[in-house]
Amino acid sequence: MIVTSTAPFPLEGIHQGDCLDLLKRLPPGSVDLAYLDPPFATGRRLIGREGLAFDDHWPTMEAWMEFIAPRIRAVVASLTNTGSILVHCDWRTSHHVRFLLDDLLGPQCFQNQLVWGYGLGGSSPKRFARKHDDIIWYSARPDAWYFEPPMVPATSNRMRGRLKKATDVLDVPALNNMAKERNGWPTQKPLALLEILVRACAPEDGLVLDPMCGSGTTLVAAQNTRRRFLGFDRCPDAVTLARSRLETVDAPRS
Ligand SMILES: C[S@@+](CC[C@H](N)C(=O)[O-])C[C@H]1O[C@@H](n2cnc3c(N)ncnc32)[C@H](O)[C@@H]1O
Repeated sequence: MIVTSTAPFPLEGIHQGDCLDLLKRLPPGSVDLAYLDPPFATGRRLIGREGLAFDDHWPTMEAWMEFIAPRIRAVVASLTNTGSILVHCDWRTSHHVRFLLDDLLGPQCFQNQLVWGYGLGGSSPKRFARKHDDIIWYSARPDAWYFEPPMVPATSNRMRGRLKKATDVLDVPALNNMAKERNGWPTQKPLALLEILVRACAPEDGLVLDPMCGSGTTLVAAQNTRRRFLGFDRCPDAVTLARSRLETVDAPRS
């Protein structure tokens, strides 16, 4: 069912529909962290296991921008004063997203362009192989935002065996085709990556929103780390998958 009502919205759970319609129903200032992992403009229909799929065809980059701009604008309107938006994208669109968010929030709200180095895949004889995604972080305000630096294993000889504050390069292995975590949704992101982002950028009990949640990785990360979650996806198969994943999730981890 596509929701078209404009009535206020329950600030929890997973809902099916175009996120633009659903976002318009969120009270302003309600979301502590919004993470978006939109279609990347690959020009393909993305198909996962058991035929689960979503479309990522765009006639032009302008068409992709016309899709993403109003949705990012609506997400920004939903953020609390110390809230943040993270947009997961890659070389195809990251520069457009930066311009868009500079325009909407101002460059002083830019915090990080995180690099998720995923490693998987082949090499290229023509250029350096493209082996990372970008996660662009802007805070809602220039002067205050929530951040708890994630601790990751140190790699230098001097610090070996100890933890250090993470840098803007996150080395989290991508899910290979045999990974137990794989749920069949194409472009599923690793839970470990989302847990790092959610812990770092949303306070405990805060509201985490993923308006294009796919199989619900962000929502599982929020539940695991004692944050509240709200997820949207226009694809009914994604919503079914995300809901069943949330129902079978482990108890929260500290
Ligand atoms: C890259 S996938 C998200 C994958 C997700 N992060 C995961 O780990 O499973 C992008 C998602 O955006 C959804 N989507 C595309 N356009 C949308 C729209 N207008 N409103 C809501 N969801 C949309 C697609 O159905 C797809 O599930």
